[in-house]
Amino acid sequence: MKKLIIANWKMNLTIKDSLELARQFTKKIKTNQHEIVICPDFSVLAFIGPVLKGSGLLLGAQDLAAFDLGAYTGEVSARNLKSLGVKYVIIGHSERRMRLHENSALINSKIQMALNNKLIPVLCVGEKLTEKQEGVTKEYLLRLLRQALKGIKIKTATDLIIAYEPIWAISTNKKAQAMSASEAEEIHKFIQEKTEKILHQKVRILYGGSVTPDNAATFLAQKNVSGLLVGGASLQLNKFTKIVV
Ligand code: PGA
Repeated sequence: MKKLIIANWKMNLTIKDSLELARQFTKKIKTNQHEIVICPDFSVLAFIGPVLKGSGLLLGAQDLAAFDLGAYTGEVSARNLKSLGVKYVIIGHSERRMRLHENSALINSKIQMALNNKLIPVLCVGEKLTEKQEGVTKEYLLRLLRQALKGIKIKTATDLIIAYEPIWAISTNKKAQAMSASEAEEIHKFIQEKTEKILHQKVRILYGGSVTPDNAATFLAQKNVSGLLVGGASLQLNKFTKIVV
């Protein structure tokens, strides 16, 4: 199976710059090797479809509402995302958990809403530096997985994705540095075993956190690493092109 590489542009770009970067991606990036997904912010999703058309690049969203259509000021529905051609949706990113206080119950509802609308949830989990230092990473991750996946049922292994992103490794943290690929492989194996018990399916697990052209291949070479979630480096054409080759 192709590895999956997701570009998470976060809220870094204007609509104009997003469309320009997407246009450049369509010219430079080949999608025969890996499955490649671009996640621009909501305002861009309505415009980017025609730019990506025919390129093989797929569309993802960075979040979705936990509710169906209704009185939810400021939210964006799964239905509308689906109708814009979105295939994947990032759920429970650490920035949303920490800065916007998203909790596991909400994340669980969002996963269900995505599945109900045939969007593929990309559930993010990761430990903070404190859990790492206290040596409780695995227990912590297991708790996050159990809470987020409570009652969730999927039909096939490709219906849901987990992104393992150690929070201390995300490039926006001042002292961030990527995890070593062998360390990542060990945690991925752990997540794989635990999610298989919860979901009865062997889902794909991506690595995220300071992925660069220098380390991407070493992560992708790991057996239990099914792909990458790339933030900062996905904003630069040259870097991202090197990551996805
Ligand atoms: P980074 O971000 O690649 O810039 O570390 C990853 C993410 O937050 O998804």
